[in-house]
Amino acid sequence: MNIVDLIIKKRDGFKLTKEEIEFFIKGVSDDSLPDYQISAMLMAMLLRGMDDEETSVLTLTMANSGDTFDLSPVKGIKVDKHSTGGVADTTTLVLAPLVASLGIPVVKMSGRGLGFSGGTLDKLESIPGFDISVSYDDAIKFANESNIVVMSQTANLTPADKKLYALRDVTGTVDSIPLIIGSIMSKKIAAGADAIVLDVKCGSGAFMQNIESARKLALGMQKIGESLGRRVIAVISSMDQPLGNYIGNSLEVIEAIEVLKGNVKGDLLEVVLTLGANMVVSAGKAETDEEARSMLLKNIENGEGLKKFRQFVLQQGGTDKIVDDYSILPISSVKKAIIAKESGYIWSMDTAEIGKASIATGAGRVQKTDPLDLGAGIAMKVRLGDYIEKGGLLAEVFAATEEKTEAAAKLIADAIVIKEEPNEPSKLILDIIK
Ligand code: URA
Repeated sequence: MNIVDLIIKKRDGFKLTKEEIEFFIKGVSDDSLPDYQISAMLMAMLLRGMDDEETSVLTLTMANSGDTFDLSPVKGIKVDKHSTGGVADTTTLVLAPLVASLGIPVVKMSGRGLGFSGGTLDKLESIPGFDISVSYDDAIKFANESNIVVMSQTANLTPADKKLYALRDVTGTVDSIPLIIGSIMSKKIAAGADAIVLDVKCGSGAFMQNIESARKLALGMQKIGESLGRRVIAVISSMDQPLGNYIGNSLEVIEAIEVLKGNVKGDLLEVVLTLGANMVVSAGKAETDEEARSMLLKNIENGEGLKKFRQFVLQQGGTDKIVDDYSILPISSVKKAIIAKESGYIWSMDTAEIGKASIATGAGRVQKTDPLDLGAGIAMKVRLGDYIEKGGLLAEVFAATEEKTEAAAKLIADAIVIKEEPNEPSKLILDIIK
């Protein structure tokens, strides 16, 4: 088989056979294919699409491209969660310790930033000392001792996704339903959880811009998961504005701690509670979503969620002093305020552009090997529907240089539309597919 022929076949809109997809994924995993041919194939797949059969073969081949993670030594029903990617999507940092604090094992393999969306691993690495590389033996030990581990894919788990993910991030090939299904479900299948709760983001800051494509993605992932005996629930949530108010790495860690302290309510907490309730019910710890929500809320009020966060950070080599003293976290020194040029209601936000502004601060990558500025990012000061006076503060930007704050500030100012009339408020939870 010749990879150039396969690229041309997909480029011209033909269906790839099982053997051809397997050949491609093998070449990705064993490094025999160069990045430029892989990238060309990814672009052909994105532009021409893949049908259900191709997507299913892609996913299974990726899942089997390396080792699988045997979670059977971990007691209890293991429930995993994965987001399709958004802006200020700080969910995992709050959700994982909160669910674990209810005695439910959360063994989660997270990713780095992808396109304009942030990544949990990058955020965790802003905690001094925190180690995202955990061996299989330690992951099992942590899960049994404390019910929580959030880590990078182990060395040989879905190596095909590791390579494709990094290339998609920098080649404009993220927003393809088959590629997202392959990426997420291969990892989830290889990672071994019994039940999976998916957070499918929809809107201006998501790879799926409308409810139809979000549903298609959700149903595609559910179908593949269930065909392999996993229970899959998909929550479709709005990404028409950043979910939390902080975008960046250490900034999002601070916001997560504030939510766990009970100081911050709002959309981020609501998405955490919706996903968390589904995880708690799937794990058999509550009968109904209402019961599960009140258990989660109680563990914010009584501090158990925050206690679990401290244990999790210490266990993975980080310092829990960050919980009491945010100045230990990196925060970039150059700051710029973005001021409203007119009075009115916040009508809409181009959230992907705000994600790109975060990349411009240094909080995300443009090239695969770009180092991150873990202290850079954006503090949003308005939400959709808010009224702002001319001269009011829309956002603050943090970066290492004035050049970067200027570039980010321009993107943010252009991304926020202010009008005299308020817009229809959009729903946060758009659908739950069980
Ligand atoms: N998250 C992933 O792991 N992969 C994608 O393709 C998108 C979001």
